[in-house]
Amino acid sequence: VLDPIITKKILEASCPEDVFGTIAGDKLEAIRAIYRQIAKVVHPDSHQGTPHAKAAQEAFMKLTQLKTDADSKIKANTYGKRSVVAPGKGSLDPIEVTVRSRKFIVSDLLYKGDLADLYRCQVGGQEALFKIVNEVANNDLLENEARVLTHLYPPSAKDEKFHRYITKPVDSFILKGKTHRRVNVVTWAKEFRPLSEVLTVYPNGIDFRDAVWMYKRILAGLGFVHANEVVHGAILPPHVLIHTVNHGAKLVDWCYAVKGDGRIRAISPAFRDFYPPEVFDKKPATASTDLYMAAKCAVALMGGDVKTGAFPSTVPAPIQTFFKASLQSAPSKRPTHAWDLHESFDELLKRTVGKRAYRPFDLP
Ligand SMILES: Nc1ncnc2c1ncn2[C@@H]1O[C@H](COP(=O)(O)OP(=O)(O)O)[C@@H](O)[C@H]1O
Ligand SMILES: [Mg+2]
Repeated sequence: VLDPIITKKILEASCPEDVFGTIAGDKLEAIRAIYRQIAKVVHPDSHQGTPHAKAAQEAFMKLTQLKTDADSKIKANTYGKRSVVAPGKGSLDPIEVTVRSRKFIVSDLLYKGDLADLYRCQVGGQEALFKIVNEVANNDLLENEARVLTHLYPPSAKDEKFHRYITKPVDSFILKGKTHRRVNVVTWAKEFRPLSEVLTVYPNGIDFRDAVWMYKRILAGLGFVHANEVVHGAILPPHVLIHTVNHGAKLVDWCYAVKGDGRIRAISPAFRDFYPPEVFDKKPATASTDLYMAAKCAVALMGGDVKTGAFPSTVPAPIQTFFKASLQSAPSKRPTHAWDLHESFDELLKRTVGKRAYRPFDLP
């Protein structure tokens, strides 16, 4: 019989990492060995004339494609970065798109999100991301993103200190064609890497002293966002980008953001455990919604249990207690002010770990 779990895993995989997982040592060899094992299970020859023949055929073809992608990602040194697309895949000959007499040269597919594909693009001499929605039904979410980003970072605004935590909106328009899909163009934070990648590289978590600066940057960014009456609504590992050398950070994906006291309209299903109860109860999102999710990111980074919010014992008790406050079910019991929280966290760190010191963080 055709193993249903393996078949499902292959057919639902959105990147080679979903099937081949974390690998070490001679990576090409490791992939080949895993591939050989799984290929045996789904090989069409073993299922000829059975009711599973078609599924086996489909799974086998997909598996072969995933292996090719794994190999090319290993060669490009991007294996393990789930959101980075395998080189050669989805690349196009550069296409020129002119919108309101502005010229965009769109080329490689760089990232895939929940709602959109993000392509490399050149506009007015700068490199940017060309984010095309996958389904017209989600045009409104991208429109929301463009509106929120423009509110936070108006095109005419001087670059302020706090703009470093977001990416600048470049343009937003509907791509005319068979369908009318929305495109958002934003500056590309090329040197930044999402926390989701940190978690792929370190599935058991990282030293809490490395996680603390990442968490602090989220708070600093959120302070600015909340001061502008915006709730991000999806503070999740793929949406927090960090710079491993200068310890900067950026928040991305404003599709789910709300202004004022709106409700969050959609979630990222893969990160269900990061969301607080008010999101599922369809109650208004507040600053404390983002702070809850930021604390869940800290739990994940420190190698804790995201579902229960439990930390490993290596994290000092006072720090665990600190995060518990943000992880309470009732939004009214949680802290609401990101900058205040940042300040009290700094004081707590001074008392528990001592003076601040730069710690190099290695992300291969
Ligand atoms: N401005 C950016 N610079 C660098 N990487 C980005 C940027 N925006 C998004 N990404 C990467 O692309 C992924 C998908 O983008 P996202 O905006 O979340 O799309 P979606 O709305 O479809 O989920 C992100 O998780 C992140 O890794
Ligand atoms: Mg996203």
